[in-house]
Amino acid sequence: MSFRAPKGTNDLIAQDAWGYLNICKQAAEIFFRYGYQPIQTPTFESLDAFVRGIGSATDVIGKEMFYVNSATSLEKLIAGVELKADERLALRPEMTAGVARAVLERGVVVADGPLVKLHYAGSMFRHERPQKGRLREFHQIGAECIGSAEPTADAEVIMMFIHFFESLGLPKERFTLLLNSMGDEHCRPAYREQVKQYVLDHAGQLCEDCLRRADTNPLRAFDCKNPNCQSIMAEAPVITDALCPECADHYAEVKRLLDKAGITYVEDPYLVRGLDYYTRTVFELQSDDGQGAQNALGGGGRYDRLLQEFGDKSIPGLGFAIGCERLLMALESRGLKAVMPSVQVYLAAASDDARPTVFLLADELRRNAFSVEIDHQSRSLKSQLKSADRLGAEYLVAIGSDELSCGVATLRSLREDFSVEFGLADAVQNLCIIMQKNKC
Ligand code: HAM
Repeated sequence: MSFRAPKGTNDLIAQDAWGYLNICKQAAEIFFRYGYQPIQTPTFESLDAFVRGIGSATDVIGKEMFYVNSATSLEKLIAGVELKADERLALRPEMTAGVARAVLERGVVVADGPLVKLHYAGSMFRHERPQKGRLREFHQIGAECIGSAEPTADAEVIMMFIHFFESLGLPKERFTLLLNSMGDEHCRPAYREQVKQYVLDHAGQLCEDCLRRADTNPLRAFDCKNPNCQSIMAEAPVITDALCPECADHYAEVKRLLDKAGITYVEDPYLVRGLDYYTRTVFELQSDDGQGAQNALGGGGRYDRLLQEFGDKSIPGLGFAIGCERLLMALESRGLKAVMPSVQVYLAAASDDARPTVFLLADELRRNAFSVEIDHQSRSLKSQLKSADRLGAEYLVAIGSDELSCGVATLRSLREDFSVEFGLADAVQNLCIIMQKNKC
């Protein structure tokens, strides 16, 4: 086989794909209880929208974007012609910027208008060095709540985030919810300067990356994985000491509401998150399940300035995204891997003259909500029985010349000691009655 999947991508096949579908379905159900409706946006957007939304000094924009070129834009690039804004496209590294663009463009949100709650699931693309739990194409489930600056919105979003994880059966004790406030445009600039000064004062002890970002994005030093940098940054000034009274009050109220709701969290004044649009509340759920450096199952926060970047009105918002591959790994390590739904009835043709009957009966049963499998490879009855077994079928019906001539076949359980005869004339009706009686 000469073709391989590109580095950092994954194929989800059968059981793994069921796992993904299950968590998406569960998310849609839980989020609907909180008033969220689905949204889908394009997989690629204008590069400028991502740069404006996420911030040019972030790793996501600076190092990890996948650019998209059409044949004509590639030709222009090769010829050294500058691309127009609508020709500069990139695969989405996350959804929040695209959701903000979409709701403003379509007039779904307006300043001082009603709250808009949206959720999504889909592929995101970041050109990172692939490793366990870190892919170049990965999937996120996420939610965005746009139009409220109230702390109750923060608390509700975090409660929904936790509710979703709990609904999947993940035990609370193995996860830590980290919480912080990143301040706003009034208090963060001064704090940023303090951190920048701290980084410069410790220039000799910090890595090149931290120093390089001292001007553009000094807070990223808190996220550096270098153990030296981590120990130096552990002594840096903390944002919580630098919050303005409004941000401090907001943060205190979010914590009060979470305490009341019984949500356990750990305050982490160094949680800065990797995207520039955050203001005030930020949070992240970390797993203690041996997922190494890639232990953040999901995270989010408030972005009260983001929509203003795209429009002219200030509209607050907040949300989160969950990494599906990491979540599926966490579920698997807790023995919660998705169970593949099995075939209910295997209809076997015991002789060739029964194949047309089997073929049509299968279709009728499927139209009556049964999952049914039949043979399409001219296999012997013995091989068909093996297939039924391999597929984990619950029931077997074998129809041959004898069954056709007397008009009666037998439904046999492949799991229990149970069998019952039924008339072929009204086969579907008869099988429905039998299945209902036995709660199949
Ligand atoms: P994020 O923290 O960049 O936030 O990503 C959310 C989650 O996506 C991470 O916690 C992680 O589980 C997963 N993830 C990120 N990168 C990768 C990767 N390369 N491979 C596998 N999984 C990955 C956001 O994306 C924000 N848009 C969240 C948000 C929504 N904030 C407000 N609203």
